[in-house]
Amino acid sequence: MTTARITVDRTAVIAPLNRRIFGSFVEHLGRCVYDGIYEPGHPTANEDGFRLDVVDLVKELGSTTIRYPGGNFVSGYRWEDGVGPKESRPVRRDLAWHSLESNQVGTDEFARWCKLTGSELMMAVNLGTRGIEAALDLLEYANHPSGTALSDQRIDNGSPEPHDIRLWCLGNEMDGPWQTGYMTADDYGKLAARTAQAMKAADKDLELVVCGSSGSTMPTFGDWERTVLEHSYEHVDYISCHAYYQERQGDLGSFLASSLEMQYFIETVVSTADHVGNKLRSNKKIKLSFDEWNVWYLEEHQASNEVNNEWRFAPRQLEDVYSVADAVVLGNLLITLLKNHDRVASASLAQLVNVIAPIMTEPSGGAWRQTTFFPFSVTSRLAKGEVLRPRIDVGTYETAAYGLAPLVDAVATADSESGTGSLFLVNRSQTEAIEVTVNLASLDATTITEAVTLHDEDVYAKNTIDDRERVGLRELSGAVLAGGLLTVTLPPVSWSAVGFACER
Ligand code: AHR
Repeated sequence: MTTARITVDRTAVIAPLNRRIFGSFVEHLGRCVYDGIYEPGHPTANEDGFRLDVVDLVKELGSTTIRYPGGNFVSGYRWEDGVGPKESRPVRRDLAWHSLESNQVGTDEFARWCKLTGSELMMAVNLGTRGIEAALDLLEYANHPSGTALSDQRIDNGSPEPHDIRLWCLGNEMDGPWQTGYMTADDYGKLAARTAQAMKAADKDLELVVCGSSGSTMPTFGDWERTVLEHSYEHVDYISCHAYYQERQGDLGSFLASSLEMQYFIETVVSTADHVGNKLRSNKKIKLSFDEWNVWYLEEHQASNEVNNEWRFAPRQLEDVYSVADAVVLGNLLITLLKNHDRVASASLAQLVNVIAPIMTEPSGGAWRQTTFFPFSVTSRLAKGEVLRPRIDVGTYETAAYGLAPLVDAVATADSESGTGSLFLVNRSQTEAIEVTVNLASLDATTITEAVTLHDEDVYAKNTIDDRERVGLRELSGAVLAGGLLTVTLPPVSWSAVGFACER
């Protein structure tokens, strides 16, 4: 059997765990909001029209910070349409997804939904069709306690307490020609800097995310980050990264190694940001907000007719149904985000419900977990304390897209306070189970508390509307921990997690 050796050193700390790494994303797109989180009349709906069966799954998923309301949608959004009495809210055209927007869910409702799910609201402002004034107005409406025109309007609208939103995105994917009001890096950098400066004049403690590239294959990738940061460096705290992966032309081997591309993306943005910072002789380090990441069969959607000339409310768009292989890749992408947690301080799985999502719903019907739900929820639940970089000795395999890729990837966490640790692993081999010996001696690991794997004889098995529990977590059988040495056998094409107790 193929073998691998991993050593986890308690002092090899990448960063203390910031739970913002387990963020997610809710966009007014397709059935994410309407018929997703919001369905008045559904048997589980609360007084705001939010489905409580979905709320329960969101809690189980363990998503933390939720980016809202877009995405491409935000670049044509007028936030004022979504506040005040519901019966007087206008219907608008959303040009991003060629849909109708009823505005029945807006800032106040979504802030209440975040409270219900125990998540933090990360708000995006429209820098596509709007600008500084609209951003400042939304900030005043959302965060000012009382006694000003817009804060009093919020109070009259039924939200006496400010929403206290700390994390704000300065627009969305402004480098993309598909974006309403997209710009050159120079134009966007100036606008972002001025918007950031004005928002921080209102509240210096806000945390602001400037748009990076919408993908590492954009022709402006790298130059965009440099130019935008040259304008905005001292006014912003994060730069965004967006990346979506898919299996192409049956090349599962390359797809399973998608993390290597994410690693390249992160390293390029970090070095570009540091180049600008060093040139400016700044003491500050810009953090990365990986605020859109997932598997997305984008090319299939582009070839379909789901975004078409009709104007419809909440059409079925981007409803990818995920396989076991997709979930293994997603688990590996999350491992990569954790391995770069010293710079990637915040991340959002795109998206949360129905639209390229871990949670699916049917109107008047049930809600269920996609395959991708499992690695995310287990990682969010088990990871605590500090993130540790393991040393991994393992063989490689050849991929068409990325050259040699290690067969196994892993990351660990350790929490001195609770006396627990966790290890997350993927086996990218399509044919071989791999026996992994993990030296946990420096963590004083004593007993396994949980050992699970996501694997199936059919790597393309999925949970569908007709078979909602076809794929689930299995026990990782044969895991043994003795004398500080953990031995596990990872099935081919699998994602696994081991939780353990440590002597304190
Ligand atoms: O998540 C789907 C879309 O992908 C978002 O609206 C956009 O920002 C990105 O291109």
